[in-house]
Amino acid sequence: MQTKPLLLAPSLLAVDFSAIGEKIEILEKASVPWLHLDVMDGAFVPNISFGQPLIKSLRKKTDMFFDVHLMINEPCRYLESFKDAGADLICIHVEATKDAEADLKAIKALGARCGVAIKPATPVSAIKHLLPLLDLALVMSVEPGFGGQKFMPVAVDKIKELAALRDDMGLDFHIEVDGGIGADNARLVYEAGADVLVAGSSVLGKEDIAAAAAAITESVK
Ligand code: DX5
Ligand code: ZN
Repeated sequence: MQTKPLLLAPSLLAVDFSAIGEKIEILEKASVPWLHLDVMDGAFVPNISFGQPLIKSLRKKTDMFFDVHLMINEPCRYLESFKDAGADLICIHVEATKDAEADLKAIKALGARCGVAIKPATPVSAIKHLLPLLDLALVMSVEPGFGGQKFMPVAVDKIKELAALRDDMGLDFHIEVDGGIGADNARLVYEAGADVLVAGSSVLGKEDIAAAAAAITESVK
């Protein structure tokens, strides 16, 4: 059973980059709480997106919660610079680091919230030992690297497994789902236990962003 309120986290990857400022204003006016920032290094994933300079510029423009999803190898090299750029939460991939526990502790020590992500083929058991450290666990519902992909249903059971573990262990971290989320499947993942829903093409990829965000929020009610 879901007890947390829904937090919609539109992914900037789907935005028209020539109009970022105005698109963010629309999200703020629509009271969308989080902005999901996908950082890709062309090594952990086969794509390159953006990095600290963009996040730093956006930080001056908005108070939205910056949810920074690092799809980069050895993220320990850059944690401080992403915190300095304005990240509120930094999420690393368990598959991309030699010592996830040390990275998560380093993020906390910097004063940011911390998260860990798992790719579709990575089982929940790979992060079980990390759960007590987490502010957020991210279940990827597509292979990381690109927006606009189709939702992989394997994510649903992993969300349920995480929600059950959270209960059993008496913890309170957010469960986030990322990839192929829209008004057609938001309710499914929310009821499974995910309270932070990333939505790229289904929000910032649409003409009417506010209506697209509202359609997702409404769909879980
Ligand atoms: C994929 C990224 C996602 C992506 C989601 O690697 O982590 O955040 O932008 O985009 P959609 O919602 O279009 O699948
Ligand atoms: Zn993401």
